Amino acid sequence: GVGGHHEVGVAEMVRKKMGSFVGFANLPNQVHRKSVRRGFQFVTMVVGDSGLGKSTLINTLFEHKLYDLGAPRSLANGSSMNGNANGRTVAIESKSADVEENGVRLKLTVVDTPGFGDHVNNDEAWKPIVDNIDSRFDAYLEQENRVNRSKLMDNRVHACIYFIQPTGHSCVPFKFLSPNPKMIDLWGVLHLFRLRPIDIEFMRKLHHKVNLIPVIAKADTLTDDEVVAFKQRILNDIAHNNIQIFQPPIYDLEDEETIAENEEIQSKVPFAVVGSDTFVTTADGRQVRGRAYPWGTIEVDNEAHCDFIKLRQMLIHTHMEELREHTNDVLYEQYRTQKLLSMGVAQDPSVFREINPAAKQAEERQLHEAKLSKMEAEMKMVFQQKVQEKESKLKQSEEELYARHREMKDALEKQRYELEERKRRLESGRPPTPDKTGSKKNRFGIGK
Ligand code: GTP
Repeated sequence: GVGGHHEVGVAEMVRKKMGSFVGFANLPNQVHRKSVRRGFQFVTMVVGDSGLGKSTLINTLFEHKLYDLGAPRSLANGSSMNGNANGRTVAIESKSADVEENGVRLKLTVVDTPGFGDHVNNDEAWKPIVDNIDSRFDAYLEQENRVNRSKLMDNRVHACIYFIQPTGHSCVPFKFLSPNPKMIDLWGVLHLFRLRPIDIEFMRKLHHKVNLIPVIAKADTLTDDEVVAFKQRILNDIAHNNIQIFQPPIYDLEDEETIAENEEIQSKVPFAVVGSDTFVTTADGRQVRGRAYPWGTIEVDNEAHCDFIKLRQMLIHTHMEELREHTNDVLYEQYRTQKLLSMGVAQDPSVFREINPAAKQAEERQLHEAKLSKMEAEMKMVFQQKVQEKESKLKQSEEELYARHREMKDALEKQRYELEERKRRLESGRPPTPDKTGSKKNRFGIGK
């Protein structure tokens, strides 16, 4: 009948599709197209002392004049409060730009932070930066809790480029201090090339919240040997202080080429960078982005001159998604769990449990364990008390026994003394009559 016909139709359709291309293989492309249409969001933060070339490097990285380096930046923003004639960054400010490449749209946001060295007291220089990162997490959490989550704006900080001063403690161009290059190296390695306490403090406060990418700023002011020594020293300090920096992960499943590429990137950390958004002419007449010196030209885009290319490759070409994922899956998740924990437990434990079943279990297990150990402690206490009671009772009866023993002994002693006294008196007076001494029964006068 009609039903049968219908069923045959369905069967035919399935068979047809089995033989052809169903189409779900295109899912990645669909996801890809959708994200391309939506555009990607990437937020990078730059931190470091004033004048280390943060703005310059950002312009160089994205080949985009995000920062007008010529003009006072804050005035260009139209904010007179932050007005600063030197073009220095004086408050945390973020700038966004839509950049497009081969039809892929990237909404790039750069969060610029005021230089560390600007403060008289640098003890808590990290605080406003941590606050900024937290508030971006909060904004995302708030969006997640909304009913409509379709359009999440991801303004979390996905990477934080931390600029390390190229001379460690001192700003003196010390390589000109001594004519002996060996001496300089030693001096540099031992005394100048190391992270300052403020660098370590900052990284320690931030590494759980953001992908840290340390860079040696203005690497053109150092010799190659100095760069090598400084890098080693930095890595040592970082390891010594248990600081987690972002390293391109190397997965077993990846092809050899990718693994080699990632290892190459890893080997350059911390990147020694040079920034410049102006073109200079090299000795052989090429036009390059770089910095000209009387002795020659440092080229930004030359891997033999600095690690700028590697930094850009990691940040943009190969690991942007990794940075975004790690931010979402690990850093944000940690923040979120802690936040919910502090909120949920304080307000209503049931809300918190609903949100996180694993945490609920952990919490219950903890309660149970606490109960058990309390019981154990109580039992121990009771036991000890009982033992003590018994011991003291035993001691008491022992003492009583001794006391009675002593009493009896004393009494016997006394009686003996009395009897001997009587005997002596009797002997000295008149001799005892034979019938009286014969009564052995009554010899000691006991039981009279
Ligand atoms: P603040 O906004 O005050 O925190 O400064 P900043 O870190 O953004 O520094 P900025 O990019 O404004 O650069 C400061 C100065 O350093 C400028 O004169 C730049 O031309 C110069 N500069 C930037 N990058 C480099 C570099 O890689 N090497 C050298 N030698 N100079 C650089």
